[in-house]
Amino acid sequence: MCIFVNLTMSNTPVIPQLYVIGAGPGDPELITIKGQKILQQAKVILYDNLANKELLNLAADDCEKLYVGKQPYGDYTSQERILELIKEKALEKGLVVRLKGGDPFIFGRGYEEMLFAREHGIESFYIPGITSMQASGFENIPLTHRAVSESVWMVTGTKKDGRLSADLKLATQSNATVVIYMGMKKLNEIVKTYVDAGNENMPAAIIQRASLPEQRSVRGLVKDLPRLVEEHKLTHPAIIIIGHVADENLKY
Ligand SMILES: C[S@@+](CC[C@H](N)C(=O)[O-])C[C@H]1O[C@@H](n2cnc3c(N)ncnc32)[C@H](O)[C@@H]1O
Repeated sequence: MCIFVNLTMSNTPVIPQLYVIGAGPGDPELITIKGQKILQQAKVILYDNLANKELLNLAADDCEKLYVGKQPYGDYTSQERILELIKEKALEKGLVVRLKGGDPFIFGRGYEEMLFAREHGIESFYIPGITSMQASGFENIPLTHRAVSESVWMVTGTKKDGRLSADLKLATQSNATVVIYMGMKKLNEIVKTYVDAGNENMPAAIIQRASLPEQRSVRGLVKDLPRLVEEHKLTHPAIIIIGHVADENLKY
């Protein structure tokens, strides 16, 4: 069902649409060409904290740009308000872009927003983004490697209820590369999970602000991570990568 409620200045009907676009990990050049083209056509852009603001320069001069970011442990626009804005702006102006850091369907609530929009008769489309864990390559860490890692687990360090995902315990029992998003506040708990599994000597790395000029990282064994973070004053946004792929002496 499509609702045509408004007319533009030139008397053509407004077609309410939502494009949920992945901005990539930070470097603005890592957005897709498709994402870039849609940004140029947007009437409204609702953008997140981790989407690079330089991407807003691609939009037309009359495009309305609204910040709806969530600062970790700080101020945020409620999800209810974001949903209201999607509906309001799409019905009023037409093409709305939800610009999200990384990939919108990876710990990003992008699909929820599309479902909401569709329930309200707004056509919705997904444009993928490079997720932040893929920026591990900028620190010479492949996510898989034929000799040491056959799979990758993406785990959240902060579930809806604030707790660390119980999946991490299962992941410690495999040879998989484990990438933890939103895990910096849970670092001690993460390390304890590996210690309890007898895997405290697994190679590991943490990359902060991956793909940006200010990218920084540490490498060591899992048990060393809290000390390394303290020494190098690392904070969020950062991804924690645990597995043999993070071994600096990895051979081909
Ligand atoms: C709410 S999640 C969003 C993930 C995003 N949708 C993605 O695909 O990367 C936020 C978390 O992503 C990770 N993250 C996002 N951008 C990052 C970056 N440039 N460097 C390191 N980690 C990043 C951090 O773990 C951060 O806490």
